Amino acid sequence: MKSSGGRKSAASGKGMDKGKGMDKGKGMDKDKGKGKGKDEGGGVPRHGSRLAIFPGTFDPVTLGHVDILRKALRLFDRVVVGVAIGDHKRPLFSLEERVRMWEECLVPEEARRTAFVGFRGLLVDFAKDQNALAVVRGLRTLSDFEFEMQMAELNRKLHPEMETVFLPPSEKYGAVNSTLIKQIAAGGGSLRGLVPPGVARRLRSHFREVRKDRRV
Ligand code: PNS
Repeated sequence: MKSSGGRKSAASGKGMDKGKGMDKGKGMDKDKGKGKGKDEGGGVPRHGSRLAIFPGTFDPVTLGHVDILRKALRLFDRVVVGVAIGDHKRPLFSLEERVRMWEECLVPEEARRTAFVGFRGLLVDFAKDQNALAVVRGLRTLSDFEFEMQMAELNRKLHPEMETVFLPPSEKYGAVNSTLIKQIAAGGGSLRGLVPPGVARRLRSHFREVRKDRRV
């Protein structure tokens, strides 16, 4: 996967805010609340303002996630990656580390149209805050499907204006899953082709320390 120091670009993207708002994600859309970005007539978003959120825990970011984000960027003008703080899941990586992993993956053109925002609470509230048209979720397996459909239906009840868009990953990422990635890393298995190089480095370093601690 191509990586070109996207971190810097993500922080300097002109099209979107910097994605620094890891608390509540306010202010990601300059036009929010001003009625801009919408066609006043039919409620159809103006070209250039179609924004989707792509939420997840991303503990850690995988090449499957990057693949879905790239697909979403082909469909939407801008994508806000909502990084769930996910305290209850006790993530291995802090919110800041997970955002940094993401930033390292993007080429400048992608970074310009992407922002990373931490969120807690309901997804629909985050979507409203961001003025998002849609939520994007990757759909890998049949077991994903059941749970994702439940979430989509409940989210629709809570926020009927927001659509859920399911995107199947490219075939080579169909089995890639953050939980299994952590198990592979814990066992010292190869992460090649599964996660971005920066993520592989962080996972190796984390589990090296874990193994060291176990020896003492
Ligand atoms: O990467 P994950 O862990 O599959 O992401 C799950 C996530 C964060 C998208 C989901 O847990 C979520 O939407 N959390 C926010 C809380 C919420 O709105 N729950 C009700 C969903 S119907």
